[in-house]
Amino acid sequence: MKSVAVVLAVLLAYQCLAVRHPGPLVQPGGLSLSRTLSKPSKVGDMDMCKFCVDFTHNAIQTIGEAILEGGLTAGCSKLCGIVGNKTDSKAVELACDALCTLVGFEEFVNAFNKADVDPIYYCELLNQCPIVDNGDATITLLSVNPKSGPQGTFLIDLEYETKNGTGTGELLIYLDTVDGLPIGSSFLNEPQDPGKYGVKLNLNAVPPQGCEVACESFEPGVYNITMHVCNGQCYSKHPHSKIYDMKKTNFTITGPPPTPSP
Ligand SMILES: *[C@@H]1O[C@H](CO)[C@@H](O)[C@H](O)[C@H]1NC(C)=O
Ligand SMILES: *[C@@H]1O[C@H](CO)[C@@H](O)[C@H](O)[C@H]1NC(C)=O
Ligand SMILES: *[C@@H]1O[C@H](CO)[C@@H](O)[C@H](O)[C@H]1NC(C)=O
Ligand SMILES: *[C@@H]1O[C@H](CO)[C@@H](O)[C@H](O)[C@H]1NC(C)=O
Repeated sequence: MKSVAVVLAVLLAYQCLAVRHPGPLVQPGGLSLSRTLSKPSKVGDMDMCKFCVDFTHNAIQTIGEAILEGGLTAGCSKLCGIVGNKTDSKAVELACDALCTLVGFEEFVNAFNKADVDPIYYCELLNQCPIVDNGDATITLLSVNPKSGPQGTFLIDLEYETKNGTGTGELLIYLDTVDGLPIGSSFLNEPQDPGKYGVKLNLNAVPPQGCEVACESFEPGVYNITMHVCNGQCYSKHPHSKIYDMKKTNFTITGPPPTPSP
């Protein structure tokens, strides 16, 4: 019971800091998501799956380095101390310690070695995310509004239907851009019951202010969007991973935003 209280406190502290994780291939580029049709089901008040996946996305590189640097036999608090030092974040250290203590040090390290760099599979190995293998999803709608317009906000609508329900997975979106810098994002999608689901993604297609290297310029042209609904991490080679469905669409940027009239 005590450890649950600690985990909950850390969960709250950590969520304030949680960074939206980019997908395996791409940079975020001003994408945000909201759910429309139904909320994810089967998610308790204390969402340990999301906690675990968010933590792992942020720290997976550092956990690996920390293990190499002698955290292997050290136990949770030493290992997580190294992780905390490397990420320069007390919240990450506490999250690490909470999770490690909960599942046990050996499991924490063994699962890391097995999962490679796949946070969803890692959290499934740690029994923090449910596994559903006979799931399915079919994309029934993928549209962009406006279909064509100046730089600004584009709204991407996704709807899909699942007959058997879905497993712990992700929604992965990426854009082929005119300047060739790919952008995209992935969003954890927790197990859902059979039904219809919808999400809206806001794409803020405006060149970022004050950005100096590798900045998306959103120059005029056609932008292709590829949307995936996956079990596990999209394109993962690990068990319990599958691309349920994938669909493409596009939109056109016509030029810079209209200048406000004085
Ligand atoms: C973290 O950094 C502090 C200050 O540099 C150091 O005293 C401490 O030993 C480090 N902890 C670990 C676990 O490496
Ligand atoms: C749904 O689950 C059943 C039973 O496991 C399986 O036979 C079927 O292929 C699944 N349907 C889809 C669309 O995956
Ligand atoms: C978008 O897709 C079309 C074909 O479907 C291709 O000709 C075009 O080069 C793509 N655009 C970008 C920016 O990748
Ligand atoms: C953009 O998508 C439409 C369908 O929505 C398709 O007909 C068209 O070929 C696509 N254009 C490019 C350049 O891929």
